[in-house]
Amino acid sequence: MNTLLSNKALNQWNLFWVISIPMSIIIFIAMQQHDMTDPHAVSEMIGISVRWAVPFIFIVTAASAVQILFPNTFTRWWLRNRKYIGMCFAVAMAWQGSFIFIMSTTFRDYYFQDVYLLRNEIEGSIGYIFLTTMVVTSFKSGSKYLTPQQWKLAHKTAVYFLWAYAYTVYWWEMFYYSKPENGGVDPGAIDYVYYWAGFLAFALRIAAWGKKRQKRITEKTNPLLLMTGAAITIFGMIVASTGTYWTESVNSYLMSPSWSVKLELWLPYWPFEPFFCFFIIGFGVMLMTPMKSASLTK
Ligand code: HEM
Repeated sequence: MNTLLSNKALNQWNLFWVISIPMSIIIFIAMQQHDMTDPHAVSEMIGISVRWAVPFIFIVTAASAVQILFPNTFTRWWLRNRKYIGMCFAVAMAWQGSFIFIMSTTFRDYYFQDVYLLRNEIEGSIGYIFLTTMVVTSFKSGSKYLTPQQWKLAHKTAVYFLWAYAYTVYWWEMFYYSKPENGGVDPGAIDYVYYWAGFLAFALRIAAWGKKRQKRITEKTNPLLLMTGAAITIFGMIVASTGTYWTESVNSYLMSPSWSVKLELWLPYWPFEPFFCFFIIGFGVMLMTPMKSASLTK
């Protein structure tokens, strides 16, 4: 394993080329097999290219967490190469961006009738702005304009936002569009796999945060607090797998005030249903790893 992961071909820019060249060839071949004069085919290419991109953003999201939770040669390799894996995400997204460009310029009527939705447009455009910022500031020529703190904040926010975009797409596929009244499209295998992969990527981050807190605990944790925290964490996992049952009622409650309806038009991800499970799991983990306020600032 050690020898394999220290192989030059599997590190840094070589890793980037090893992944992104075959990936681009496959997307290019798929493009040849689609009739690009048909807007439906262009839309399909948007889907195909973004399905290549999604695993990379999940891998990048989990990189630091897996290293904290399971420190070993593989997770160190994973963390060391996250920038290059992120670049592979950017390449696949550049393909998606090109297909979106083709659709919105060549098939304007189709785009504005069948695809365009202000809220999605805002989320997607913010996503591309974050992606561009991340790519530009991954090089010395771009990062020199930022302090290390600004760089870290920009990259963390960008990764969270892009992870959230992909994760929420599959959350809605799983728990909303699958219902007969919303189209009744049964989620495919890819929706299941990507939804749970997106969930796992962020759940690992929460677990790593908990592990860090745990290390700083000096006194024995109150067993009652421990049990309550564990029960809340388990409840969060149930919430993550049962969206079909509660989304409609929670949604109609949250969307009853008119200000909430207005907010939904432009605030990305509002009212945040896909993230409820993480709020709950995070709270559970916090209870299981109580810290004195003094140790929080260390
Ligand atoms: C203005 C920008 C964007 C537009 C107009 C746009 C448009 C679209 C369209 C039309 C589809 C449906 C493709 C199909 O027919 O299957 C799609 C799917 C998708 N997009 Fe975007 N998108 C944008 C930005 C983004 C960003 C930033 C992400 C972040 C990762 C993203 C992630 C996805 C995902 C995960 C899917 C679902 C793919 C699947 O079917 O599995 N999009 N997008």
